[in-house]
Amino acid sequence: MLAMAATPNHADSADLAKPLRYAGFFVTEAVRTFRATGSVIPSSPALAERLTRYIDQRDDPSAPISILEAGSGTGPVSRAIAAHMHDGDTLDMVEPHGPFVEYARGLMQTDPDLARVADRATLHQALVTDLGTDRRFDVIVSGLPFANFTAEEVREIMEYYFTVLRPGGRLSFFGYLYTKQVKSVIARREDYLRQARSSWVVDEYVHRFGVDTERVLANFPPAWVHHLRKPAD
Ligand SMILES: C[S@@+](CC[C@H](N)C(=O)[O-])C[C@H]1O[C@@H](n2cnc3c(N)ncnc32)[C@H](O)[C@@H]1O
Repeated sequence: MLAMAATPNHADSADLAKPLRYAGFFVTEAVRTFRATGSVIPSSPALAERLTRYIDQRDDPSAPISILEAGSGTGPVSRAIAAHMHDGDTLDMVEPHGPFVEYARGLMQTDPDLARVADRATLHQALVTDLGTDRRFDVIVSGLPFANFTAEEVREIMEYYFTVLRPGGRLSFFGYLYTKQVKSVIARREDYLRQARSSWVVDEYVHRFGVDTERVLANFPPAWVHHLRKPAD
């Protein structure tokens, strides 16, 4: 059995701020849990910025919004979300992996942007679909690794997002460029087919609700970001 990686100590905030240590913790955990994590490196600041686009661009800048972040991991996107939050905005972060949750809890005290919104931010240790359908969000930022999921899992999560999104609300999520092409060369046939099927579900939602797609080359691996909008009733 693999040993559990130690969570970095949040008592020393100067040390925590060191990007290499922060990335190192993510890498260790990502290798242990690759199917659920789907990446070996946390998202770059450039990718995090694109994912927060609709926290900046609002229909009514004076009205507070509710934000859901699915798959917050070690918090690189949470920090960018927090930096763009206005007074009165709320944030629900959801992450099932215990060591990441523990890490992010510390970050909520030590990172200046997250600490600023800590009284309006809630970190849930859960699968996003277990959060319940009695909530409503204006913006959903999803970091989930759809390419590692089955088509049924992707559909369940997309249906959940479009249930809890308010009419007119936005969903932004990312995937990595060329995943299908790389898998066609290196993956087993059944894994390639599983990923092709799950990407068709993603494509179906993008086709129905997509408003823009951006490429982010300043990330490892390079990524695309899709922005979707739930139609206003
Ligand atoms: C690609 S990582 C992204 C982490 C972080 N947001 C970033 O950009 O670096 C995907 C994250 O989604 C989490 N995750 C996987 N399945 C999930 C689910 N069903 N609900 C919520 N989070 C999930 C994983 O534990 C992991 O932390």
